[in-house]
Amino acid sequence: MTESTSGLNRVLRAAAARVPEPRAAHRFLNRLTHPLRMDDYSSLIYPLWSSRELRGEVVTVRREAEDTVTLVIKPGWGATPHYQPGQYLGIGVLLDGRWTWRSYSLTSAPTTGRGEYSVTVKALPEGLLSNHIVGTVEPGTIVRLAAPAGDFHLPTPTPPKLMFVTAGSGITPVMGMLRSLDRRSVTEPFPDVVHVHSVRERDDALFYDELRALEKTQPGYVLHLRVTSEEGRIDSRQMSALVPDWSERPTWACGPNAMLDELDEHFDATDRDDLHVERFTVNRDAGASGGTVTFGSTGKTVELDGATTILEGGEKVGVQMPFGCRMGICQTCVVGLDEGHVRDLRNGTDHGPGERIQTCVSVALGDVELKL
Ligand SMILES: Cc1cc2nc3c(=O)[nH]c(=O)nc-3n(C[C@H](O)[C@H](O)[C@H](O)COP(=O)(O)OP(=O)(O)OC[C@H]3O[C@@H](n4cnc5c(N)ncnc54)[C@H](O)[C@@H]3O)c2cc1C
Ligand code: FES
Repeated sequence: MTESTSGLNRVLRAAAARVPEPRAAHRFLNRLTHPLRMDDYSSLIYPLWSSRELRGEVVTVRREAEDTVTLVIKPGWGATPHYQPGQYLGIGVLLDGRWTWRSYSLTSAPTTGRGEYSVTVKALPEGLLSNHIVGTVEPGTIVRLAAPAGDFHLPTPTPPKLMFVTAGSGITPVMGMLRSLDRRSVTEPFPDVVHVHSVRERDDALFYDELRALEKTQPGYVLHLRVTSEEGRIDSRQMSALVPDWSERPTWACGPNAMLDELDEHFDATDRDDLHVERFTVNRDAGASGGTVTFGSTGKTVELDGATTILEGGEKVGVQMPFGCRMGICQTCVVGLDEGHVRDLRNGTDHGPGERIQTCVSVALGDVELKL
C-alpha cells in the first residue's frame, strides 16, 4: 500500500467507524469516494464490504476427519440467511491467482438472523479445490460466494414419514436437513425419519456422535449405519429387511453415483416417483475423444481430452462463461453449439450443431465451436 492510500485508508476507517451499519457506511463512503468505485477502498478497510460480489470470511476451520474439514463462513453484505436446508452454496477460493469455484452443500441450519454458513469438504484424490481447502484454508480467508440454490430440499409441510439414504460425504446436505428439523422441533413435531448411512470404515462416519445424540433427543429419528468393508453395499432386498415400510417413505439420497443409480433403478422398477437425488460428481469416463474447442467471438481455443468439460477448458484459457452448480443442475451454463458435437457426461447423450448445451457437463467429441 502506498503512503497516500494508507492515509486514505485511515480516513475511511475513521469515517466508517462513525456510521452505524454497513449499508449506511456503503452509501456514506460512496459519496466520499465519488467518482471512483467505493469497493476499491472499502475492501481495503474490511474485505467483506463489497457491493459488486458476495463475499464471506472463513471464521472457523474444524477438522472432521483426516481428509475432511468443515468451514464456517461469515457472509458479508448481500448474503441471504434464508435458504432451504439441503441446498448448496457456490464458493470461490483464490487459488494460484485465479478464483476457483465449486458447490458445497450447506450443513448449517438456516437461522433468522444474519447467520453463518457451514460446509463440509472432503478432499478428493487429485481434486484441485477440495485438497486446497482441506490442506490450506485457514480462518481469515476471504472467499467469494454464490447464493444458496438447488432443489434438493424437503417440501413444506415436511412429510410425516421419510427416509434418508446417504453414503460417505453425501451425508452433508442431509446433515443440514436434520439440523434444521431438530431446530424446528421446538415449534413443530420432528417427523418419523429413517436414515441409512453407509461408510467404508466405521471410523469414516462424519458427524457420528451428533447423529447418535440426535437419536436420543429425537425419538422420531433412527440411524442405521452400514459399514461396507464389513457388510458390503446394501441392496434393495436388504433395505426391505432393514426398513420394511421404505416403499411408503419419500426418500432423499446423496452419495456415490453407483449407489444413486441403483436406487434410481429400484424406484423406476417399482413405479415410484418420490426419490430425490443429489449428485456431487459425474462419471468422466464417457468414451469421448476430446478435440479443439473454439470459444466463439473470443477467438480463444483450447485442446481438450474427453474427460475435461468445456466449462473447465474455457477457464484454462481465461474464457469466463456463466456457471452455477457445475454439475448439470441449475442450467446457468447453457450456451449454443455452432459446430461439432459434444457428449453429456451424465447420461452419454450427444448434441450437435444448433443445440444448446450445458458446458459444465459436456465434453468434446472432436472439434467444437461455441456460439459466444
Ligand atoms: C450440489 C453439489 C453439492 C456438493 N456438496 C459437496 C459437499 O458437501 N462436500 C464435498 O466434499 N463435496 C461436495 N460437492 C463436490 C464439490 O463441488 C467438488 O466437486 C469437489 O470438492 C471436488 O472438487 P475438486 O476441485 O477438488 O476436484 P476437481 O479438480 O474438480 O476434480 C473432481 C474429480 O474429477 C477428477 N477429474 C477432474 N478432471 C479430470 C479429468 N480431466 N480427467 C479425469 N478425471 C478428472 C479429479 O481427479 C477428481 O477426482 C458438491 C457438488 C455439488 C454439485
Ligand atoms: S453450472 Fe449448473 S447446470 Fe451447468
